[in-house]
Amino acid sequence: MKSLMLLALPAVVLCQLSPQTSVPCGTPVVQPITKRIVGGREAAQGSWPWMVMIVALTNDLHWIVEGSGSILGTHVILTTAQHFEGPGFSVFDLDLRHWQLHLGNHHMNARDQHQKVYHIRKVIIHPGYNVTSLKDDIALIITQEAIEYNDHTRPACLPDAIHHYHVGDICYLPGWGSTLTTGDDEVLNQVDMPILDDGVCSRQFRDFLSDTEICAGYETGIKEFCPSDLGSPLMCKDGNGIWYIQGLASSGVDCHIARYPGVYEDVSLYSDWIKQMMATSGYPYEY
Ligand SMILES: *[C@@H]1O[C@H](CO)[C@@H](O)[C@H](O)[C@H]1NC(C)=O
Repeated sequence: MKSLMLLALPAVVLCQLSPQTSVPCGTPVVQPITKRIVGGREAAQGSWPWMVMIVALTNDLHWIVEGSGSILGTHVILTTAQHFEGPGFSVFDLDLRHWQLHLGNHHMNARDQHQKVYHIRKVIIHPGYNVTSLKDDIALIITQEAIEYNDHTRPACLPDAIHHYHVGDICYLPGWGSTLTTGDDEVLNQVDMPILDDGVCSRQFRDFLSDTEICAGYETGIKEFCPSDLGSPLMCKDGNGIWYIQGLASSGVDCHIARYPGVYEDVSLYSDWIKQMMATSGYPYEY
């Protein structure tokens, strides 16, 4: 019995190699729901296949959701730096062996059929990151294991110079933290996020950095993101129907007050740095 399983293994590995390299970015098999529902709703299962739930084991041995990220390559996940460095702690204080990356899941706690757990090999924090102002709140996670692509797990696209956003564009924030409307803590939700004028965030937040941050959401509180949404991608669709990461949820306020717009890192400004770090790590961006 044992030797049979060993013989079968190489065939399985070979079969998985070709689909991995042929999966396009930003192209879910299940289409995300794009009908506007102000306030958010449960996402269609599998429609944001690059979503990653980042979980950590606390000192008292509880698993907590630290935030979210998105798949960029077979070993690379994009997220915010604040999970790894903040006031009073740095990445060197964290035992990253006790962190997990949950991919292919829809439910937060219940185990999904397509869910797979990966581990962190290394974290690369943007050299300009400032824990106080949250300037350059960008980080890359290099995974220990190669991420297996399939219908429920595949990469998102990085925006390039032709991807401009405009005030009024409707983008989407998938996340496990946004539960105010559906009331379901257990599933991946999504919220429509219109791009707002920088002035809205400048008035709300004295430390809004209009050069590198995007303001999106609602001026008069409908929906705001929660801590486990931090690092979630603000997804915008281009004219070809391809989804790309325009922003990264970086700060806002208490999601239960929900009176303010949200602040996102403008990923198009960081695409070059991200691609450079991916290449340096040995996993160049493929698209
Ligand atoms: C970080 O941001 C704070 C607040 O804006 C600022 O006072 C400080 O000088 C910044 N630190 C660095 C190293 O730029």
